[in-house]
Amino acid sequence: MILKKIELRNFRNYEKLSARFYKGINIIYGDNAQGKTNLLESIYVLGLTKSHRAFIDNNLIRKGSEALCISGIVGGNFLDKKMEIQIDNHNKYYKIDDTPIKKVSDYISNMNIIIFYPDDLEILKGSPQLRRKYLNVELSQLYNSYYIVMNDYNKLLRIRNEYLKKWSKGGSIDQNYFDIVTSYLIDKAIILYQMRYKYIEKINETCSQIYQDIMGLEGFHIEYVPNLEITDMKDPSLKEKLQKQYQEKLEYDKKLSMTTLGPHKDDLEFLLSDKNLKLYGSQGQQRVAVLALKLAEIPIFKKYKEGTPILLLDDVFSELSDDKKNNLMKYISKDIQTIITTTELNNLDPKFIKKSKLFKIEAGHLMKIKEVKENE
Ligand SMILES: Nc1ncnc2c1ncn2[C@@H]1O[C@H](COP(=O)(O)OP(=O)(O)OP(=O)(O)O)[C@@H](O)[C@H]1O
Ligand SMILES: [Mg+2]
Repeated sequence: MILKKIELRNFRNYEKLSARFYKGINIIYGDNAQGKTNLLESIYVLGLTKSHRAFIDNNLIRKGSEALCISGIVGGNFLDKKMEIQIDNHNKYYKIDDTPIKKVSDYISNMNIIIFYPDDLEILKGSPQLRRKYLNVELSQLYNSYYIVMNDYNKLLRIRNEYLKKWSKGGSIDQNYFDIVTSYLIDKAIILYQMRYKYIEKINETCSQIYQDIMGLEGFHIEYVPNLEITDMKDPSLKEKLQKQYQEKLEYDKKLSMTTLGPHKDDLEFLLSDKNLKLYGSQGQQRVAVLALKLAEIPIFKKYKEGTPILLLDDVFSELSDDKKNNLMKYISKDIQTIITTTELNNLDPKFIKKSKLFKIEAGHLMKIKEVKENE
C-alpha cells in the first residue's frame, strides 16, 4: 500500500499543503520546527483518525482556524481510494471516495500505518498504560474484531466498576446482574488475552533478529505479562478458573471500588536475555528495542492485511552512532513505502540517499529536490 498524495487544510502549522509521495523511500529533511513531525502526524491522523501524540484533537487545528481537513489518495494492490477526515471543535467526519463513513472501525481498516517517533521510547520507559495503548492501537489496526471486543470490554468494565462503587458505599445491587456482567467481562478478557498473546508471539518471531542486525546484540525479546493467571489458553475450564480468580478478588475490588483483574492491567517487558531494558538498558539499547518492535510489525501486517503497511520514521537516525545508523539504513527496504524525516542529510549514507526521493521542508512548504520520473 502506498500513500500517493496528501492535502492538508489548517493542520498544525500548515495552512494549505498538497504533496505527492512515491514508492520506496521518501526522505523529508529540514531544520527544527519546520513541520516535519506535523506532516507525518497528518498521515497518521488520516489513516487512524487520532494523533499518536496529541491527546486533544483541537491541538491539531491550526491556531486561529475553526476546522482542519486532511485528504489523501491511497493505492496499492487495489484501486486507489480517497480518504478524508475533517475535525472541528466538536466533531470528526470521515469519508471514503467522497462517501461519509459512520463507523470508525470501517474507516481505520483502510490504511495500514506503522510509525516510529522519538517519544515512542515511552512505550518502553513509561507506564504500563502506554504499553497497553500500544497493543490496543496496533491490534485494532490489524483486526477489526479487536477494536469491537475492546470497546465491549471497556463498557462492561465501566458497568462493573459502577456496581462495585455502589456496593462499597453500602448500596443494594442486583447480584444476578453483577454476575452476568462479570461473566461477559471474562469472555471478552479471554479474547483480548488470546489476541495479545498471539501478537507478541508473532513479534518475537522476528524482533530479536532485527535487534541483533541493528544493535549487534543477541537475546532481545518481548514478554507479555498478563494480569490474569492463565497457564493454558486452550484449557476448557479456563473460564471457571478465571471466575474463581474474580471471586477471590471481590472483597478487595469492593474496597477499591474498581476491578483490579483483567487485560486493562496487562503489561509488556522488553528483555535482553534476562535483563529488563526498562531498568538496565542504555538509551541507544532502549531506542533500538522499540524500533525493532515496530519493524517486526511489518511481516505481520503483510500477512494479515491487504498489502504492505506504510512506514513513518520520525527522526529515527538521531542519537544512533554511525555504525547503528548504517545498519538501520540497510534495513529500510525499497519494497515498502517509507517516509523518513531528518534534520541532517550529511550523516546519511550517499547510497541510501541515492535510492530515495528527497524533499526539503521550510516553514510548512515542501519542495521536491530530485526530479522524479512520473511512473515512479
Ligand atoms: N495547532 C498549531 N497551529 C499552528 N502551528 C502549530 C500548531 N501545532 C504546532 N505548530 C507549530 O508547528 C511547527 C512545526 O512543528 P514540527 O513539530 O512539525 O517541527 P519539526 O520540523 O518536526 O521540528 P524538529 O526537527 O524540531 O522535530 C512548530 O513551530 C509548532 O509550534
Ligand atoms: Mg520533529
